[in-house]
Amino acid sequence: PIPVWLDCDPGNDDVFAILLVLFHPRFNLLGISTVHGNAPLEMTTHNTLALLDLLQVYNVKVYEGSKRPLKIPPHYAFGVHGTTGLGGVTLPKKTINKPAKDMYYIEAMRSAICEHQGEICLVSTGTLTNISKLIAKYPEVKDKIRYIAIMGGAFNFGNVTPFAEFNIHTDPHAASSVIAEFGDKVILTPLNLTHTAVATEWVRKQIYNDVEGDNRRCSEIRKFFHDILMFYGQAYRENFGMTEGPPLHDPLALYSLLPFVDDAFEEYGYKYVQQPIKVVLDGEHQGETVVSKENTPGVYVGSEVDTKKFWQSVLVALKNAEVH
Ligand code: BDR
Ligand code: CA
Repeated sequence: PIPVWLDCDPGNDDVFAILLVLFHPRFNLLGISTVHGNAPLEMTTHNTLALLDLLQVYNVKVYEGSKRPLKIPPHYAFGVHGTTGLGGVTLPKKTINKPAKDMYYIEAMRSAICEHQGEICLVSTGTLTNISKLIAKYPEVKDKIRYIAIMGGAFNFGNVTPFAEFNIHTDPHAASSVIAEFGDKVILTPLNLTHTAVATEWVRKQIYNDVEGDNRRCSEIRKFFHDILMFYGQAYRENFGMTEGPPLHDPLALYSLLPFVDDAFEEYGYKYVQQPIKVVLDGEHQGETVVSKENTPGVYVGSEVDTKKFWQSVLVALKNAEVH
């Protein structure tokens, strides 16, 4: 399995990335760091811990990361994720899992990277604040990681402004430095690709109950993920007019490691273009990802994936989560 560190801001779609990284046999989760983003840091941390409780996972350390972007004020995505960051579900206020306090998150990430150097992949499903601080303090870690998979960016449209995608827009300075510094280790999963991974009614049915047409009560875990999709779907309908279902951005960024690590692009129906990418830092286009003319190492920008296969992986993870 691929050793992975996950940096996230749960987040209705982040929780699916956590499900996949925990319960798909191809991944070995080393640790989680949380970041401000969809909701304030206290909430994204609480959501992560409460989800691990629900999944009865007690051996994963969760480090609390950055509260705010590097240079601009924070802003959240309550309209899409609800006021707690996880709309549609109520989680207990007290959690069994607690934030890890043995180290600062930067030190924890660095030590995981050193221990698994050459193999470890970073996965970012939130703003890039934590990771930009990590490489500012320890630039040498860049050479030690295999890939960094980032959910972020959009080409020719946006979901916060007509130009920018949320994760990049929320901390453009951090995104700009991470993309520039990691160069050809970056696997970018932009909205253009995630909008092909829509949780349609078929998907929602499979999530609710793995046997089609079977009326047996679905498990607490299935109900949780299904309720989230119902809320998220409603938000996408209202905010973006997407009627078929919500796109599940974050788990797709994690999944996109597989074609690269396996060097089997056809098998995953995966296509990309390799391009130097820059982030617009100011003005009306702040947070926009643009193809730059500079001669910098290009980022892998995902453009196509076999979504059927992707959903199968999510469903495998869900089944494993139920029986574990
Ligand atoms: C990204 O923004 C967040 O709201 C989602 O969790 C996802 O990471 C999509 O633009
Ligand atoms: Ca996210």
